[in-house]
Amino acid sequence: MKIRPFGVEEWMNRWETLAVNNIAETCVDSLTLYELLEISGDTERIMADLLGTRLTYGDITGSRKLRDLIASLYEGRDPDSILIMNGGSAANFLALFTLVNPGDRVISVWPTYQQMTSIPEAFGAIVDLLPLRPENSWLPDLEELREMALGGVDLICINNPNNPTGSLMENSLLEEIAEIARKHGAWVLCDEAYRGLVHEPGVFVASMSDVYEKGVSTGSFSKVFSLAGLRSGWMAGPREFIAEAFSRRDYTTISCGPLIDTLAVVALENRERIMERNLRIIRDGVAILEKWVDSEKQINWVKPRAGTTAFLGYDLDIPSDELCIDLLGTTGTFLLPGKCFGIEKRLRIGYAYGTETLKKGLESVSEWLKNRNA
Ligand SMILES: Cc1ncc(COP(=O)(O)O)c(C=O)c1O
Repeated sequence: MKIRPFGVEEWMNRWETLAVNNIAETCVDSLTLYELLEISGDTERIMADLLGTRLTYGDITGSRKLRDLIASLYEGRDPDSILIMNGGSAANFLALFTLVNPGDRVISVWPTYQQMTSIPEAFGAIVDLLPLRPENSWLPDLEELREMALGGVDLICINNPNNPTGSLMENSLLEEIAEIARKHGAWVLCDEAYRGLVHEPGVFVASMSDVYEKGVSTGSFSKVFSLAGLRSGWMAGPREFIAEAFSRRDYTTISCGPLIDTLAVVALENRERIMERNLRIIRDGVAILEKWVDSEKQINWVKPRAGTTAFLGYDLDIPSDELCIDLLGTTGTFLLPGKCFGIEKRLRIGYAYGTETLKKGLESVSEWLKNRNA
């Protein structure tokens, strides 16, 4: 079975270690273990729990407590409609492994996290891309989706909030996508790794798995909880689907381990405090970035509404990968080229990985632009 190389991940693997100012990172400023325990206010008890944990496979399904807590992030969901995985990426893989058959027709938004297109393609599906365009605020055009679906569709893949553009589909749009899928009996897989990271206070967006009876949503501790090193995520969906996925998980994962389980529970029990911190970080970050974009004539954007990334446009005659390599070599500032998504004259920036890094990174991009124009 052949699979396309993962553009974004390969770029990060190749260059990230050389970064001085990493403004390509998509996590909200990752926490140390110490910081997580400090937030909980219960360090001694949790450390005693961790040290006393026998390193068996642990609860194969994930502890009841963890699945209860994850279920509470959704509307009326029970722990049997949640499946724990080692990260959102593993959850996406398993969801696609469960949903896609050779010859299936899959429609996926683009740009998005490449798993949504390359994995179904590798499994033998016919994958059509539904382009997200800046003139439509990087949102899917539903007329286009309706037309694409006319020939039949088995699975629609979306990502909300979207990486790399930072666009946000609100409930009405999700309901319309569900309606299109329903008409064709299709599943909808929604990657919700950035769910809840919304800039505008008071805006709450539903999970696709709550909107649609054949909706599957994946989630992650990496971005929203700043715990990428935990390698934990999950999927939420109808019980029968979760049972199917669980039976496939025996072949890939067995269990996710008791230490991760304990720490994931700590994160969820303290989610309000973590969210308060992280919303402050993303909102401060986007304000800094907005000021900078306004001051740079050769840079344009559609201001993101959610998540941790923006997909900046630039008005310069240089391919995006060359720009990023030159920028990294001359300033140590690390960005991700639009080329990783097959889209030129674009750069993905992450604005939530530390205010100081962001400021320094942006200053050095300004310097680089000035030198190039000189
Ligand atoms: C949209 C999206 N989904 C999933 C992932 C993978 O996350 P995890 O660390 O949970 O595997 C990422 C990571 O960048 C992402 O941006």
